[in-house]
Amino acid sequence: MGNPTCSWINCLLIFKALPAETVYSGTMGDTNPSPGSPGENQNQNQNPDGNPPSEGDSTIAALARKVQESISVGKRHKFWETQPVGQFKDVGDTSLPEGPIEPPTPLSEVKQEPYNLPGLYEWITCDMNTEEMCNEVYTLLTNNYVEDDENMFRFNYSKEFLQWALRPPGYYKSWHIGVRVKTSKKLVAFITGIPAKIRFRDDVVRMAEINFLCVHKKLRSKRLAPVMIKEVTRRVHLENIWQAAYTAGVVLPTPITTCQYWHRSLNPKKLIDVGFSRLGARMTMSRTIKLYKLPDATLTPGFRKMELHDIPAVTRLLRNYLSQFIVAPDFDEDDVQHWLLPTENVVDSYLVESPNSHEITDFCSFYTLPSSILGNQNYTTLKAAYSYYNVSTKTPLLQLMNDALIVAKQKDYDVFNALDVMQNESFLKELKFGPGDGKLHYYLYNYRIRPALKPSELGLVLL
Ligand SMILES: CC(C)(COP(=O)(O)OP(=O)(O)OC[C@H]1O[C@@H](n2cnc3c(N)ncnc32)[C@H](O)[C@@H]1OP(=O)(O)O)[C@@H](O)C(=O)NCCC(=O)NCCS
Repeated sequence: MGNPTCSWINCLLIFKALPAETVYSGTMGDTNPSPGSPGENQNQNQNPDGNPPSEGDSTIAALARKVQESISVGKRHKFWETQPVGQFKDVGDTSLPEGPIEPPTPLSEVKQEPYNLPGLYEWITCDMNTEEMCNEVYTLLTNNYVEDDENMFRFNYSKEFLQWALRPPGYYKSWHIGVRVKTSKKLVAFITGIPAKIRFRDDVVRMAEINFLCVHKKLRSKRLAPVMIKEVTRRVHLENIWQAAYTAGVVLPTPITTCQYWHRSLNPKKLIDVGFSRLGARMTMSRTIKLYKLPDATLTPGFRKMELHDIPAVTRLLRNYLSQFIVAPDFDEDDVQHWLLPTENVVDSYLVESPNSHEITDFCSFYTLPSSILGNQNYTTLKAAYSYYNVSTKTPLLQLMNDALIVAKQKDYDVFNALDVMQNESFLKELKFGPGDGKLHYYLYNYRIRPALKPSELGLVLL
């Protein structure tokens, strides 16, 4: 017989984890062991200096322990163990300093030729300014990029989105890397980097943000990904940049923090019909629709779309706001123009201009990332908005985000997603977001942060 006490505790936990009346299952996540609850094994988890670990620290420690256990049954990270990244065995070792793990090598010592690919394949640099190249990349990703655990949804980044995500100020064409079959010229793998300035405490570091790693489904498990990663790293080094940031749904050595996706239904009927969410217990469809209903118009006086002339004010607002987080981008006006000036179907930004003083006091934004719905007869696309950067100084964040939900609903999004980063936790439950099963791990290459962060200490959103 099972242990009744355990089941009871489990029930309580499940209940606690579901504040909204909807259960979300279709989130892009991973099937890896999820981190244990923060309270678990506290003694084992104490830092060597005797101080109790922070919440983020103990989550990562629990994760590291699980991974160490799996290593003892034969699962190792043959590639990542060789790279300058935080290793699981070092979690909790307070003697290791923060900052670069390895010093830069002289540029003359950086390998000049690309890494070897298996004979049938060749490297290409993808020119994302051309329509043909964008189409090829779009096709590869649309058919082969990230899926949820049940293979019901696949990210469907639009071409416009890819051009936006890959061409920020100062971008390097050489960091947009493809692999083709030599004979057919078919594009079968892709990886990208873009330059970014990221602040860690008081240290602003030039880095690469690595994204869109994708290997065609037919070429999986052949160790092509490590070659792609080494090649992008080599090209980043050639620009005298030695650090990188990236996110993944899978657990690798070693997350700086692990975030959770939360989902706010805007079109609950469609979400339920396509299996993205389920009706909560004791709920009917009509009660669910009523629960998620939003006002037709935004509520905050002075709430309007961001315009070109707002760039200086938004930059000031954002820089000031992001300064409170341990890790955050160091945005200047050019970055704000690129990343936050609204672009149709790519990024939306709104702000509050005080009706009296005309001061810009608050700001919110989201980006558009649809997913293909796989194998559903009635629907092909799930239109999702993803919370990006939000700043509140006068309008409460809750009210600001409620207006963001209202505009997203007006624009016909099906769901509004947000990570528990920055101050997002303060509005998620009250605005009827429900936790998803997707975890997102944040990683740094060649930079150690100690101890691990809580999601609320992170001020960085990667696309
Ligand atoms: C991610 C992907 C490129 C990996 O390719 P693969 O063929 O499955 O794996 P390979 O045999 O080439 O390489 C395995 C190595 O890559 C690492 N790896 C797998 N996914 C990774 C990721 N998202 N980021 C970094 N490294 C990753 C593995 O951990 C392993 O290294 P290890 O032995 O040190 O643990 C491929 O599965 C894919 O295209 N998936 C769909 C898109 C996707 O999930 N992209 C990543 C978005 S974060």
